[in-house]
Amino acid sequence: MQASSTSASKPAHALPSYLNAHDLGPWGNYLQQVDRVTPYLGSLARWVETLKRPKRILIVDVPIELDNGTIAHFEGYRVQHNLSRGPGKGGVRFHQDVTLSEVMALSAWMSVKNAAVNVPYGGAKGGIRVDPKTLTRGELERLTRRYTSEIGMMIGPSKDIPAPDVNTNGQIMAWMMDTYSMNTGATSTGVVTGKPVDLGGSLGRVEATGRGVFTVGVEAAKLTGLAIQGARVAVQGFGNVGGTAGKLFADAGAIVVAVQDHTGSIYNAKGFDVPALLEHVGNTGGVGGFKGGDKLKNEEFWGVDCDILIPAALEGQITAKNAGKIKAKMVIEGANGPTTPEADDILNDKGVLVLPDVIANAGGVTVSYFEWVQDFSSFFWTEDEINARLVRIMQEAFAGIWQVAQENKVSLRTATFIVACKRILHAREMRGLYP
Ligand SMILES: NC(=O)c1ccc[n+]([C@@H]2O[C@H](COP(=O)([O-])OP(=O)(O)OC[C@H]3O[C@@H](n4cnc5c(N)ncnc54)[C@H](O)[C@@H]3O)[C@@H](O)[C@H]2O)c1
Repeated sequence: MQASSTSASKPAHALPSYLNAHDLGPWGNYLQQVDRVTPYLGSLARWVETLKRPKRILIVDVPIELDNGTIAHFEGYRVQHNLSRGPGKGGVRFHQDVTLSEVMALSAWMSVKNAAVNVPYGGAKGGIRVDPKTLTRGELERLTRRYTSEIGMMIGPSKDIPAPDVNTNGQIMAWMMDTYSMNTGATSTGVVTGKPVDLGGSLGRVEATGRGVFTVGVEAAKLTGLAIQGARVAVQGFGNVGGTAGKLFADAGAIVVAVQDHTGSIYNAKGFDVPALLEHVGNTGGVGGFKGGDKLKNEEFWGVDCDILIPAALEGQITAKNAGKIKAKMVIEGANGPTTPEADDILNDKGVLVLPDVIANAGGVTVSYFEWVQDFSSFFWTEDEINARLVRIMQEAFAGIWQVAQENKVSLRTATFIVACKRILHAREMRGLYP
């Protein structure tokens, strides 16, 4: 009797003890998204708790010697959210605000994304709590190598395959690949993706996420009657994802009217010269100070008159505070988790179509999958082959999700979760619980 009254006062599956119920951060947003999809999972709903706790979490201390002779310690993570459909797959982020909650959420969104485009991976993510801009190149290399050694027990070409994310790039992937290879005694190109092309990287990988953002944007525009020619586009984050997406939209005849990054916000009603803006970012590190437009107050960015808004920086950017100001007809989530659940509802009520991260930015992992396959066979494809396969996968996945959204009268986010979570949980059910 005692036991049942105690269990009746608690939820059937309490939060893991390492989480604070009052401060769940991005993981809390992800949990709400899972709750929204649960009613659509049918008999697979009995497995849904699988999605609500990561499979494996590793927190590591990453000590390095700085150039001035002192020792600095950084906090590093690798989280494998779900491995039901294959090895873990997901990027590594170097950012001063990285937290466990963030890495957990990002790893879970990778599980969903990989299943949404049907690549044979589970979901994982990693990060180091560091502002890499404060490190010299030598310090950054030592940090990357030590982190790779610390998580070495968890990663591997058939276990978990990291890739670039915010503030990490081909050079970091090259150091990760080399460190893992040195530790295991054999060159292992397939341990990470997003490598330089000369080291087993894939053509088209750098632009892949932005190309995927553009591809689903074009598909959604066709379905909703929005003309890309002349469409006004605002982009937050002009790095790998936002910069490429902005360029592809401009090449297709759209005009990029506003851009915001960590150095400021700029506006030009006639549209920026995007190649010149990309060159400025390459030379100076940000859009701030670009002469081809006017300075905009950061808070004014969200209210800019535009047709398409592409958040391509960090999570939690579109919130209940600024969602009401958004004038775009379509939001394409290049970033992971840029929209909070409250903001999602506000946008939905306003009739703004949101193309969610879990499908919109899946182009990167799709070409990472191609890279991994090419590494295994040591046979490399042409850029045209890669782009054509990427576009086909993105178009087919998006069409399927669109149909599920129409059939169930749900948002594209919930539709993507329905498709993906069913695939993950079906795999779990078929594999069964071991032992
Ligand atoms: N690179 C990929 O293949 C990939 C794949 C899927 C999703 N993503 C997601 O896309 C987003 C961007 O990643 P990326 O690879 O382009 O990173 P990046 O480092 O190349 O660019 C990040 C951009 O965000 C901007 N930014 C940072 N802090 C900001 C702030 N406070 N306000 C405004 N802008 C800010 C930076 O100035 C920069 O322009 C992330 O959410 C990442 O998880 C990336």
